[in-house]
Amino acid sequence: MADINLTRSDVIISFGGGVCGDIAGFCASIYMRGINYYQVPTTLLAQVDSSVGGKTAVNLAEGKNLVGTFHQPTGVYINKLVLDTLPEREIICGKAEMIKTACIKDEIFTQELLAGSKLVSEKYIKKCVDIKRLIVQNDQFDFGERMLLNFGHTIGHAIEAKAGYGKISHGEAIAIGMALITKMSEKYGLSEKGTYNQLVNLLKMHKLPYEYSGNILQLAKFISNDKKNVNHLLHLILLQKMGKAYIHKISLVKFYDMLETM
Ligand SMILES: NC(=O)c1ccc[n+]([C@@H]2O[C@H](COP(=O)([O-])OP(=O)(O)OC[C@H]3O[C@@H](n4cnc5c(N)ncnc54)[C@H](O)[C@@H]3O)[C@@H](O)[C@H]2O)c1
Repeated sequence: MADINLTRSDVIISFGGGVCGDIAGFCASIYMRGINYYQVPTTLLAQVDSSVGGKTAVNLAEGKNLVGTFHQPTGVYINKLVLDTLPEREIICGKAEMIKTACIKDEIFTQELLAGSKLVSEKYIKKCVDIKRLIVQNDQFDFGERMLLNFGHTIGHAIEAKAGYGKISHGEAIAIGMALITKMSEKYGLSEKGTYNQLVNLLKMHKLPYEYSGNILQLAKFISNDKKNVNHLLHLILLQKMGKAYIHKISLVKFYDMLETM
């Protein structure tokens, strides 16, 4: 950027998926102490999730997203047509985040999906963006409500980290993470009965996995490194029911005990 003499009045446009958006946003946030950038997301995941909300990050060898900033894009332009060339595996990844968004905040959305409504549509892409936008407007810096967007991510990230990044897709890991945490929370009376079955039905309808083939207990070490682990308290995101999530603080020890019984 310095080589081509970008100035503070220039802008960066990210045209690509979440990786491109995160790098563009990060560079825009630190170049000359911050210049404007626009997001033009071209993957489903980037359209429904990563292009909105202003989180930027890059990975270090020591871990994912370890260096980053909050820097809101000046604008986000979304056009569903670009998804025509997106490989099926990437579409499925985005679907997992869309199901997550419905599950945490919108009961009607989940019921419509369970009734068979087409998920990858302009209507639901817009709905996901609106849900995330409202959450971020209330809690830009992730101290409260924004954590709900991490539903499925505590176990999902552990599955990704254990497998080695890139071995299992983010969407698949999150899908399994959502299912496992809901199975556990329902078992311990922290979710309404039937929530797990409804969630699994939704995941199955969209060809997403819901069972973990490895040993769940081996995920523990990766969960203790999780950024949602504050002072040895995990901030678990649980579903009270489909369409309504809440934060449940729990000690790591208690969480491991619960995992052991799964
Ligand atoms: N900032 C946030 O709030 C946030 C939220 C969620 C995820 N993320 C980050 O997003 C990243 C994942 O993003 P992603 O799933 O978009 O992956 P990605 O950016 O790696 O894109 C996936 C693949 O699709 C290709 N591609 C992109 N658009 C295409 C199109 N229209 N047609 C054909 N191919 C296309 C890309 O070249 C790439 O190979 C992760 O690094 C994750 O950490 C950030």
